[in-house]
Amino acid sequence: MRVAVYPGSFDPITNGHIDVLERSSKIFDRIIIAVVHNVTKKAMFTLDERVDMIRQSAAHIPNMEIGCFSGLLANYLIEKQACAIIRGLRTVTDFEYEMHMAMMNREIIPDIDTIFITSDKDYLFISSSGVKEAAMVGGNVESMVPQAVNLALKQKFQAVQS
Ligand code: PNS
Repeated sequence: MRVAVYPGSFDPITNGHIDVLERSSKIFDRIIIAVVHNVTKKAMFTLDERVDMIRQSAAHIPNMEIGCFSGLLANYLIEKQACAIIRGLRTVTDFEYEMHMAMMNREIIPDIDTIFITSDKDYLFISSSGVKEAAMVGGNVESMVPQAVNLALKQKFQAVQS
């Protein structure tokens, strides 16, 4: 069985992430979307909230499971017996960061390759940070995120504004 791990912050998951997940689920037998629990990086949504949004948004992908990890990604890959890391690529801006991360991971765990899934043109401009920034000041991000995320963003900012 060929298992791949799709790691990230997913703060929150966007339609671009879902697209990468759908595409990679057709290549591998099992995809584990792995939400990082990073104590040094402040996320807008808690780990539980991020996982819950993914659960609601990716339920249609049958060979997908959701996991969480902290610390070194390589350790998680070994634990899950994964053969690949999935990362989405949008523009050249992503490339430098992604290449660096892929090289680091290869140095740490040479047997596991990073597979880049190129974004669909419809999602090239979508990022979690852009979505949060727009939603925070009342922008409509409905077309950029799954329904559950749109709702969660509205609730989050209503709570902040009231
Ligand atoms: O969605 P993000 O924030 O771009 O995801 C980055 C992530 C979580 C994949 C990356 O920061 C990571 O793998 N962190 C775990 C620490 C690690 O293993 N670092 C070594 C490789 S750079």
